[in-house]
Amino acid sequence: MMLFLFILTMVYTVFCDSNDGGKAPRILLNDGNTMPVFGLGTFLGFDENGQKQVKESEVELPVTWALNSGYRLIDTASLYFNEEQVGRGIQKSSVTRENVFVVTKLGLNEQRHVLDSLRASLARLNTSYVDLYLIHNPVALKADHSGFDVVDYVDTWRSMEEAKALGLAKSIGISNFNISQITRLLDNCHVKPAVLQVEVNLNLAQDKLIEYAKKENIAVMAYTPFGGLFSKSRGPPPPRKDHPALVKLANKYNKTTPQIVLRYLVQRGVIPIPKTVHKERIEENIDIFNFELTPEEMKLLAEFNKDYRTVWPSFWQDHPYYPFEKKDVPDPDIFKAGVKV
Ligand SMILES: NC(=O)c1ccc[n+]([C@@H]2O[C@H](COP(=O)([O-])OP(=O)(O)OC[C@H]3O[C@@H](n4cnc5c(N)ncnc54)[C@H](OP(=O)(O)O)[C@@H]3O)[C@@H](O)[C@H]2O)c1
Ligand SMILES: *[C@@H]1O[C@H](CO)[C@@H](O)[C@H](O)[C@H]1NC(C)=O
Ligand SMILES: *[C@@H]1O[C@H](CO)[C@@H](O)[C@H](O)[C@H]1NC(C)=O
Ligand SMILES: *[C@@H]1O[C@H](CO)[C@@H](O)[C@H](O)[C@H]1NC(C)=O
Repeated sequence: MMLFLFILTMVYTVFCDSNDGGKAPRILLNDGNTMPVFGLGTFLGFDENGQKQVKESEVELPVTWALNSGYRLIDTASLYFNEEQVGRGIQKSSVTRENVFVVTKLGLNEQRHVLDSLRASLARLNTSYVDLYLIHNPVALKADHSGFDVVDYVDTWRSMEEAKALGLAKSIGISNFNISQITRLLDNCHVKPAVLQVEVNLNLAQDKLIEYAKKENIAVMAYTPFGGLFSKSRGPPPPRKDHPALVKLANKYNKTTPQIVLRYLVQRGVIPIPKTVHKERIEENIDIFNFELTPEEMKLLAEFNKDYRTVWPSFWQDHPYYPFEKKDVPDPDIFKAGVKV
């Protein structure tokens, strides 16, 4: 009887919508907290001058729209320079703080000052805790971004554990770590990372990394979930949003091709955080919890994989903790060019 009740409670926790009006179900993390399986990304990206400057209410309004239309997870980072707007967006929404899962990240230039950096993020977000704090990257940069710093991510993790113990972050995790780095972290940690945030999309399946994370009971968040779907340049390989195979599925389910892609990721068991600043697209992107792709359709979509990375900061590749494959000729540092610290 007890066992039955326990199982019933677990099934409820994992699969049922919470009663806060959120549209995405929640999953149980390895630390006992729960997390929505879908969220809003807030990074505005780059233009020819480098990282885009955040203007007026460019991020604040989308955050409010998202929460009011059923999102319960918002992804930001100190390096997006928009945490104030995220905080105001939450404040101005109809959702209470306790019902929002706020994710922010320790900047690459903040690894020597984890607690101070988190407290600064909390002040900008106007909150006393975040739901999830991630190490943005195993690569560390000097405080003023002037060059590499070498900080062992195991040491950084000690301070992340302290942040959790202090209640400043309910859960802690990592982003852009590769398998061997995670293994080394697991061998040396007291608190396991609850979440790994990495790029996952049709062009970059990440099968090995996802399998490894699942085995370790670490939840995987999928950043850049659209990959090259909307790309106008020849850079990323297909599919684009008008690819016949995607259009066929979209027509079958009366959905759009971005919705097919997001549904595919959710059914793979990863947590997509698509970014858009447009109200209609915000509503469109989360409207994927009322249909299901068949196993054959999942297989078909898996065939798009080319192990192609959209986010590939090869200008950091001489750093000892660079996590990705190296290029013969690294790209120029567009990030450094644009960041105004
Ligand atoms: N941990 C990390 O290192 C890392 C790295 C990259 C990203 N991230 C996180 O992941 C989030 C998402 O990744 P991302 O921003 O790189 O890429 P993304 O979410 O895959 O794609 C964003 C692009 O898609 C467009 N878009 C979104 N929904 C659309 C729709 N329904 N129809 C047409 N176009 C649509 C957006 O345009 P509009 O805004 O103009 O609609 C934007 O240009 C980021 O915002 C950030 O929070 C984390
Ligand atoms: C910060 O949060 C408090 C409530 O916790 C609220 O009264 C105040 O208006 C918020 N400040 C901003 C700038 O949103
Ligand atoms: C198809 O989807 C649109 C947009 O969500 C909706 O307005 C319309 O009623 C749907 N049509 C059918 C036949 O379900
Ligand atoms: C993982 O990261 C380490 C640096 O910490 C690097 O030496 C190794 O080559 C990376 N592994 C892969 C598969 O890229």
